[in-house]
Amino acid sequence: VVSLAGRDLLCLQDYTPEEIWTILETAKMLKIWQKIGKPHRLLEGKTLAMIFQKPSTRTRVSFEVAMAHLGGHALYLNAQDLQLRRGETIADTARVLSRYVDAIMARVYDHKDVEDLAKYASVPVINGLSDFSHPCQALADYMTIWEKKGTIKGVKVVYVGDGNNVAHSLMIAGTKLGADVVVATPEGYEPDEKVIKWAEQNAAESGGSFELLHDPVKAVKDADVIYTDVWASMGQEAEAEQRRKIFKPFQVNKDLVKHAKPDYMFMHCLPAHRGEEVTDDVIDSPNSVVWDQAENRLHAQKAVLALVMGGIKS
Ligand code: CP
Ligand code: NVA
Repeated sequence: VVSLAGRDLLCLQDYTPEEIWTILETAKMLKIWQKIGKPHRLLEGKTLAMIFQKPSTRTRVSFEVAMAHLGGHALYLNAQDLQLRRGETIADTARVLSRYVDAIMARVYDHKDVEDLAKYASVPVINGLSDFSHPCQALADYMTIWEKKGTIKGVKVVYVGDGNNVAHSLMIAGTKLGADVVVATPEGYEPDEKVIKWAEQNAAESGGSFELLHDPVKAVKDADVIYTDVWASMGQEAEAEQRRKIFKPFQVNKDLVKHAKPDYMFMHCLPAHRGEEVTDDVIDSPNSVVWDQAENRLHAQKAVLALVMGGIKS
């Protein structure tokens, strides 16, 4: 077990495969402890500030519940209600919050905001989704794949849709852990160039692979996992209409999933726009693991909190 005490979690590219495995193994242990009723108040008396610039159901609730289970306390801070709205800087907010709380989680539009928080805070900062990445989501995703498939190495994980924050984190973590990651997007909606390079490098080191395609049918051939996300992310509402047309051929529906392995798993970070990126018959099918995946946000984040806030020492 490696120590993660004091670390920020902004992007999983900053973490080694061993560090990611430490989080996943801790998450598995804490999930068992919760299920058998074994107390795990590893952060007794500690506090977490949670800043939200955008809406959230899963991230907000799972972090708050996580802190309660760990014996600590979480504060929900809507960015609109903070002095940030009246021009107090991110840097000054970070400095002040660091005098009150033991860690900060933030959901922001611009990834630079979470980087600035980390730069000026003296406590760990966790990215609860930015326009660039969603590391807590990817931890829950690979925890789910590991649980259901027994391994991550060699699992064919196919992401179909927009090359967005969720796609980035899925690519980064998957290639670090030796999965065979395939991404299929419309032309012009590919993942960030930098993330493609990281994915290729990570795969070369882990023995996994990465492929970027524009044909969803070809991409999902023999897939173990088919993953999708909304076509218009938070902040892209103005493009939603145009995106609906462009992304139509990338809908995950009955016809598309026929090309995957019969025991393929359907995954989605949620919230889903049913009838757009996924049809009801797929998300509600026995192949869908979306509720287990959502639950695992709780366990994975408990592991992150306990590790970075020093509740578990190596
Ligand atoms: N998947 C996810 O982050 O969901 P919320 O937007 O509800 O937090
Ligand atoms: N890509 C989506 C994910 C929401 C959890 C968004 O950024 O809105």
